[in-house]
Amino acid sequence: MELYLDTANLDEIREVASWGVLSGVTTNPSLVAKEGRDFRTVIAEICDIVDGPVSAEVISTDRAGMIREAGEKSGWHENVVIKIPMGPEGLAAVSVLEGRGIRCNMTLVFSAEQGLLSARAGASYISPFVGRLDDIGVDGMEVVSTLAEILERYDLGSKIIAASIRHPAHVIDAALSGAHIATIPYKVMQKMVSHPLTDRGIEAFLSDWARHSGEKG
Ligand code: E4P
Repeated sequence: MELYLDTANLDEIREVASWGVLSGVTTNPSLVAKEGRDFRTVIAEICDIVDGPVSAEVISTDRAGMIREAGEKSGWHENVVIKIPMGPEGLAAVSVLEGRGIRCNMTLVFSAEQGLLSARAGASYISPFVGRLDDIGVDGMEVVSTLAEILERYDLGSKIIAASIRHPAHVIDAALSGAHIATIPYKVMQKMVSHPLTDRGIEAFLSDWARHSGEKG
């Protein structure tokens, strides 16, 4: 399963990219607004750091506007993937855009039914929001596993991006549930990389080594 970072913060992207584990980045209007910078500039800078798909979302709510925006944003860089919100307008836009060779990430997907529709419309990527479902007492990961089974059984080419990830266990569950990608906030990525036993082990190795060096004189 590939790992994406779910952020528009360049420092976070630079750091995780330096670990050699990053396959792509997803942004959304809230994440970009948080940075307070020009959208196009932020996306261009992310594309300079990461050689993989970078999702940029449309703001329009009607299909014509989505298609127009997507045409413009997909020209920013060859790695830009257009994020389109789920719904009748989104489905219509995705089917036109994918037909034109513009890759789309159907976002705000909360059910396997929405996921199946996204796949039939030809979306390259489908993003079920796991954490937001968990927040309302629905098992978000079940949407991922059901959709993964449907895509596999009917040989549909869309890739699942497990989104709205809240903690490290979500990432492992997403992998075991058949997600092709998990898009992960920086804070969760930091938790994934560390373990108290690793820290304790390094401390012990270093202090044993210091004692050994001291003894040798
Ligand atoms: C997905 O691409 C979204 O940007 C993101 O995962 C939403 O997560 P949230 O529920 O933490 O806002």
